[in-house]
Amino acid sequence: MFLAKSALLILVCFFLSNAICAIAATVNLDWKIEYTNVTRLCHTKSLISVNGQFPGPTVYVTEGDTVIVNVTNLVSNNVTIHWHGVRQLLSAWADGPVYITQCPIQTGHSYVHRFQVTGQRGTLFWHAHISWLRATLYGAFIILPKQSASYPFSTPTTDFPIVLGEWWNSNVEDVIAEALATGGGYNISDALTINGQPGNLYDCSQQDTPTFNVTQGKTYLLRVINAAVNFQLYFGVTGHNLTVVEADAEYTKPYNTPYIVLAPGQTTNVLLTANQTAGQYYMAASVFSPAPIGPVPFPQTATTAILNYVVSKSNRSSTSNATTSLGPLPTFPAYNDLQSVETFYRALRSQSYSKGYYYMDVPQAVDEDLLFTVGYSLQPCPQGEQCRGPLGERLSANINNVTFADPSISILQAYYNQINGVYETDFPEQPLIDFDYTGSYNGGMQSILGTKVKVLNFNETVQMVFQDTSLLFFESHPIHLHGQNFYEVGRGSGNYNPSTDPLSFNLNDPPSRNTVSIPSGGWAAVRFRTTNPGVWYMHCHIDLHNSWGMAMAFIVKNGNGTSQTLPAPPADLPPC
Ligand code: C2O
Ligand code: CU
Repeated sequence: MFLAKSALLILVCFFLSNAICAIAATVNLDWKIEYTNVTRLCHTKSLISVNGQFPGPTVYVTEGDTVIVNVTNLVSNNVTIHWHGVRQLLSAWADGPVYITQCPIQTGHSYVHRFQVTGQRGTLFWHAHISWLRATLYGAFIILPKQSASYPFSTPTTDFPIVLGEWWNSNVEDVIAEALATGGGYNISDALTINGQPGNLYDCSQQDTPTFNVTQGKTYLLRVINAAVNFQLYFGVTGHNLTVVEADAEYTKPYNTPYIVLAPGQTTNVLLTANQTAGQYYMAASVFSPAPIGPVPFPQTATTAILNYVVSKSNRSSTSNATTSLGPLPTFPAYNDLQSVETFYRALRSQSYSKGYYYMDVPQAVDEDLLFTVGYSLQPCPQGEQCRGPLGERLSANINNVTFADPSISILQAYYNQINGVYETDFPEQPLIDFDYTGSYNGGMQSILGTKVKVLNFNETVQMVFQDTSLLFFESHPIHLHGQNFYEVGRGSGNYNPSTDPLSFNLNDPPSRNTVSIPSGGWAAVRFRTTNPGVWYMHCHIDLHNSWGMAMAFIVKNGNGTSQTLPAPPADLPPC
């Protein structure tokens, strides 16, 4: 049966002989969530892994493939797995955010995720989507273009996944549990990491510094992923320029830069040509944090890896030992240099059209015009407890002053089965009070705690403007939308002006992203079209802020016919 189908496809491909023809395959993965002992910084701990690997496995698929992942939970924590940035067209049940599209996979249970990868190619990642388990449960998810398509840039010699993360010596679940219990700050990670390793500037880490071997004169594709839990990061390679060619699994116009910036949840593909004197060069990542250093401490040491030129002598290759010392670290702007970061984000542009197999659909007109403030707030300290937030209360975060509360069953199940009382549909489209969002603020700081969603019809165009607020302090919040990308059409400082700012929106070649970093003390505008029925979580990808409730969800209704209707849930969807 399968053979017959393949043969038919080959035949069809032969007659059409067009560039979009390829035979889709099925990628089958069997993942066990299990404990494994890992040592970093001279500390050994038992952490939660996929198949004993840390970081987790890199998944390679080809655009058009069907992916089937059987996840079995062998640890005592509840688990879910999310495919960050994967569009999940008609497969919301496989998306993974806990209590949004499914209940957790309980100990001893399995869940088979099924989805097709369509209409996107490039670098994404997968991670756990419950509490802070993604601190150790994460890995690259790489979508290769269809075999018959090619990159809109010359094919690199090879590619290197570079997954940025954070390491805690302690148990990460204890860190977030303690933060939520006290309502104050939290213990920051002990190291930043590249592919799970802190690199040679950290204690006990030198001999495990990741090394990437290159040949002089060749060009490489670095697939950089910010899987860090709480920090935006700069990334660069000493002495080498980077050419950005893709962000969040969408091609960009080539952009040359000495460094890149990624918010948690963002991915960026860059080309690097090994055009320097043969030797060893630092690759490094360090924190970008535009908030004042007081309330937001961060790891001060850069995580490093080594770009190593392999010198070939006659027929054999041997590792170059030309330099014993690595030379300087790459130069980054100051940790809080918002201006430089804005210059970088604003430079990204969609690659307009290439090879006939992808297209842009930037909504030129808007059906739903949403203004969402994002910022901090307070929740009351429970009776008889001591809270460490401002005014003796608990820190929280919100969108339009609503702090998201997890429901007890998933919103998608409640919506699909028409179960009342799980969520409310009155998520505010505009801030409840109009104030000078980025000016000084003397009002109350209490947010509303609730599970509120915004319902959207199928095939609507939506504009969302995210407005940072001055409450407590400014911050660059990376807002991530599940189930589809949006176009980032504008960004600015201060308060968004609805009559003048839209005049300068880029409705021609804006970058298509799944995560937008809101400028600290400013705003960003995005647009998308609702073409994917389901429930789609939207939240700050700084996990601390997500845990504090900076989140909401959209319900996108079905359109007409089966191609616009969410199928029934799989039989093994985890029970609540
Ligand atoms: Cu990277 Cu809601 O996820
Ligand atoms: Cu945030």
